[in-house]
Amino acid sequence: MIKAQNKCKSIVVKFGGSVITDKTKSYTIKHDVLDRLAKITKDYLERGGRIAIVHGGGSFGHHEVKRIEDEKGVLESSDAPQIQYSMLLLALEVSKTLLRHGIPAVLHPPHTLCEKPSVKNCRMSPILRDYTQSLVPVTYGDAIPYDDKIYIISGDDLAAALVSILNTDCLVYVIDEPGVMTGEGKILETVTSLGDLEIRENNRIDVTGGLRKKLETALELSNHYRGTIVITNPDGFERILKRQDITGVGTIIRATRPED
Ligand SMILES: Nc1ncnc2c1ncn2[C@@H]1O[C@H](COP(=O)(O)OP(=O)(O)OP(=O)(O)O)[C@@H](O)[C@H]1O
Ligand SMILES: [Mg+2]
Repeated sequence: MIKAQNKCKSIVVKFGGSVITDKTKSYTIKHDVLDRLAKITKDYLERGGRIAIVHGGGSFGHHEVKRIEDEKGVLESSDAPQIQYSMLLLALEVSKTLLRHGIPAVLHPPHTLCEKPSVKNCRMSPILRDYTQSLVPVTYGDAIPYDDKIYIISGDDLAAALVSILNTDCLVYVIDEPGVMTGEGKILETVTSLGDLEIRENNRIDVTGGLRKKLETALELSNHYRGTIVITNPDGFERILKRQDITGVGTIIRATRPED
């Protein structure tokens, strides 16, 4: 029997590129969704919630990487500026929307924080500094030039790293589906291993491994993270933040542990 702690008084949320952009069209933001997520976040902050925000690459970063790969067949460190710029464009739109809703959002571009392309090598102290002052840090998936090559550090991984640093109750991945779906279109209540997963093919570009890699990261995190990890959509995000509780929302990700 899997028991999860249900309270979400502090959250790291990752706004998936699948939900804040149209991944089928380059450089397309879903402004209505972004506005809604910002409104939900603002209400939560007003009721004492604490939050840090990560966002994905969507039709900005993923499409830029794909474009360069198609053009040159290889990614080199000299390609970093283009990819970083594409992500900054999206990050600025996200920040602009959050600020417009009165959220004290502070942008932290990972290419200025991460020495090497792994979350272990990212200097998260400025994010913690802001979070402890009740600001709302915002970071995102980004390109890190290293050893003459380009590596992509994913928003999914950054979000997973931040929950331990910020010590939040919950990690919420918001995507454009209500959870992890079965082949019959039902929401899986929990995922305990990759074997539970039926990946649907789609035409969306994701250079960081899509849902499978997200689940791998989340399952691995669940081995040591005592909070709750959930995958849901904007409706689920709203329910979690309104009630500060995850019960019955989306799909809980939790690898079976020896004590379960
Ligand atoms: N069984 C499944 N259940 C739910 N979503 C699925 C499933 N199989 C495939 N998907 C796809 O996984 C996508 C979510 O993963 P994806 O990595 O594309 O999005 P994201 O992480 O929100 O985007 P980004 O990486 O840009 O932040 C959904 O858009 C959905 O189409
Ligand atoms: Mg993804």
